[in-house]
Amino acid sequence: SAAPLTTIRDIGQHEGESVQLRGWLYNLRESGKLLFPIFRDGSGTIQGIVPKAAVPPEVFETIKNLTLESSVTVTGKVRADKRAPSGYELDVENIDVTQRVPDDQPFPITLKEHGPDFLMERRHLWMRTPRQSAILRIRATIMRAAQEFFDTQDFVRTDPPILTPAACEGTSELFEMKYFDEGNAYLTQSGQLYIEATALALGKVYSFGPTFRAEKSKTRRHLTEFWMIEPEVAYAGLDDLMQLAENFLAHIVTRVLETHRGDLKTITGSDDKAARLEKIQAPFPRLSYDDAHKMLEEAHAKGLIENPHTYGDDFGAPDETYISNQFDRPVMVHRYPAEVKAFYMQPDPQDPTKALCVDVLAPEGYGEIIGGSQRIDSYDLLKQRILDHNLPLESFEWYLDLRKYGSVPHSGFGMGIERCVAWVCGLEHVRETIPFARTLNRIYP
Ligand code: 4AD
Ligand code: MG
Repeated sequence: SAAPLTTIRDIGQHEGESVQLRGWLYNLRESGKLLFPIFRDGSGTIQGIVPKAAVPPEVFETIKNLTLESSVTVTGKVRADKRAPSGYELDVENIDVTQRVPDDQPFPITLKEHGPDFLMERRHLWMRTPRQSAILRIRATIMRAAQEFFDTQDFVRTDPPILTPAACEGTSELFEMKYFDEGNAYLTQSGQLYIEATALALGKVYSFGPTFRAEKSKTRRHLTEFWMIEPEVAYAGLDDLMQLAENFLAHIVTRVLETHRGDLKTITGSDDKAARLEKIQAPFPRLSYDDAHKMLEEAHAKGLIENPHTYGDDFGAPDETYISNQFDRPVMVHRYPAEVKAFYMQPDPQDPTKALCVDVLAPEGYGEIIGGSQRIDSYDLLKQRILDHNLPLESFEWYLDLRKYGSVPHSGFGMGIERCVAWVCGLEHVRETIPFARTLNRIYP
């Protein structure tokens, strides 16, 4: 009778039994009359052992001559082994090759170091390596946990359009396209304006989808296409929003720790990352822009940061890194100068030069992962801001309507999934956080 089909993730349920795995040959070592193939199947990797004396000669020869990334169904007996990364090894009994990678065209990604351009050019293959697969599994869990957080608190998911007539976050970063006789359309930078409308219809809403920014900057934090999840809540103020943000991030991290400790170790090479993530519990520290500025002034006086921070300016990446390094959990910096923030933010009644907004800075120098604010609820003020920012009033008539018919204070934030994945996984660059990254210089594959 055929051995049961399983996956490497679930293989522990079959200790002592023969099982079948469907996957690919990830690596192969040979030591005298022993072969050590490593198989992968998308859920993990497992080492097989093939002693020459223990298998039929054709099985031994097939494996001995197998090329990397050939697709196979392998049958073997599951044996617990404490030294193995997955905790198990496979005593191989049989192998069936689905496609053998030809000898003259070997799989291009080897165990040696490759540069980022070489790897990004082959992203469709690079994603097969254990580290990249682990990152993509964690990304999926983060996306699921993020939705679950809102779904289980009765937020209604309302997805906004992707083709839009106007800017949300500033005109410099818009991707423009022709739209029939209407003239131009733009790819959305954020669903926010639309979910303000759905929030006033449904109370608590969120959106989740791709967003686009023609970022001319080449940094390790910027993509031109990224996924944003955005809640919006009627009658909520800035304090409510900060509470929502800290509970949201704590929930995501809890879910990742539940099932991805092995993946985190595969990615970072140690258990340190999981230990740091254990500390991500609400409440998070809150820091006003003014206090953050003071912190930077003192750091500069002590020679801890190179450039002084100018009061009134936004924070640069080194500033954010310094601030976030003072805390072991994300820090919520609130009440930035209205001047450096978007047109729709509600002024602070205590000091109208400040906006009722918050940026959540992740630990370890990962910078801003969440940006949000209370929204202007006065018709007259919002109209003035649209004019002040030289935005086309006709495109915003509908948005102003929301302040005409039962306007209420309301607040929301956006989290870029890729920034969150980079922080949780401890990655150098956001290009590894999404299956196919889109950046200034790359749109292939
Ligand atoms: O701070 P941002 O620009 O805020 C908004 O778009 C608001 N309309 C959201 C809202 O209030 N509903 O962007 C929100 C988040 C950032 O904190 C960051 O995580 C991510 O989106 N983000 C990017 N991620 C990757 N590449 C880029 N170019 C990004 N730009 C923003
Ligand atoms: Mg922002």
